Amino acid sequence: MKRCLIVTGGGDCPGLNAVIRAIVKRASHEKDWEIVGSIEAFNGILREPTEIVVLDEHKVAGIHYLGGTIIQTTNKGGPFAWPVKNKDGTWSAVDRSDEMLRKMQYLGIDAVINIGGDGSQRISQKLFEKGCNVIGVPKTIDNDLSATDSTFGYQTAVQIATEAVDKLVTTAASHNRVLILEVMGRYAGWIALNAAVAGGAEICLLPEFPYDVDKVLERVNKRFARDRGFVNIVISEGAHARGKDYSTLSQQEIGYENRRLGGVANVLMNELKDAGCEHSIRTTVLGHLQRGGIPIAYDRVLATQFGVKAFEMVLNNEFGKMVSYRHPNITSVSLEEAIQTPNLVGADTSLMKTARGIGISFGD
Ligand code: F6P
Repeated sequence: MKRCLIVTGGGDCPGLNAVIRAIVKRASHEKDWEIVGSIEAFNGILREPTEIVVLDEHKVAGIHYLGGTIIQTTNKGGPFAWPVKNKDGTWSAVDRSDEMLRKMQYLGIDAVINIGGDGSQRISQKLFEKGCNVIGVPKTIDNDLSATDSTFGYQTAVQIATEAVDKLVTTAASHNRVLILEVMGRYAGWIALNAAVAGGAEICLLPEFPYDVDKVLERVNKRFARDRGFVNIVISEGAHARGKDYSTLSQQEIGYENRRLGGVANVLMNELKDAGCEHSIRTTVLGHLQRGGIPIAYDRVLATQFGVKAFEMVLNNEFGKMVSYRHPNITSVSLEEAIQTPNLVGADTSLMKTARGIGISFGD
């Protein structure tokens, strides 16, 4: 019997369970494969006692529409940077990858399918370089991976953000206010851009285009010059004024390597007030609502395609690669290529041109 290990790493994302289910269902056609899952990314392998579960058809029945991941996840630490507490109370990152690979050998693991974003696929590449039979499946609500046309979870996040804009438009109009909605996306503005276009926002501020607060205010005032004006602004968590740094949250968590972005909606509100904005302003931070709950149909379908493809890559010994969607095909790219360039919104992005075409201001 051969064993394939599934790992879900990084932030959770609607569609993860649909990928797990698809891998297990596809593998069930093969007599000699058992699928197991490591609990909480690779931590399940590294912990004593080991935390892995057998994933059979019974275990994954009906999970295709469930948010989250039945095998849990983490975006802290990992086999190459395991957090260890020093005697003086400080923390160090320790490389436990060799120990983990030995343990996987002991557990009879022949292949690994690592479902995760850029950080997880960097781990996949490093494990592959150490001889591990690993395949990556791209996962991110941020849509910041350039090696695939899209990832599951992203369209669900866009849908949730758009519904938030729809709700904020009616309250902004009722009170003649400026309503600022902060959405996720890290350093990529895709969720904000799509939600602004779909929701009919007047202003959209993205990490890729640092804004000039006077230009934002100019646009706000122009809208209020109309009878009973109101303004809806969608701002990406990574957006910032020209010459300013990202807004970050101060609480540091052990093993958390990324900067925690957040708080830019309030920063913008204060910047607008300091610049002389006299209108009433309210802010909403959509946060993890964008990641929780059921995936929309599109993401369930894409996730299922990714899962089947990933297991077929295992069968074909196509290791060191990541599943990729290149319309209309589900294909693959080398992990090395997959982690090279982030997918950011560019000035030439056709949706940017569309947005400018309908008069959305980017404050630039
Ligand atoms: O990468 C996905 C994402 O949701 C980002 O959009 C966001 O910046 C980050 O994860 C939040 O991470 P956490 O769950 O640790 O707060």
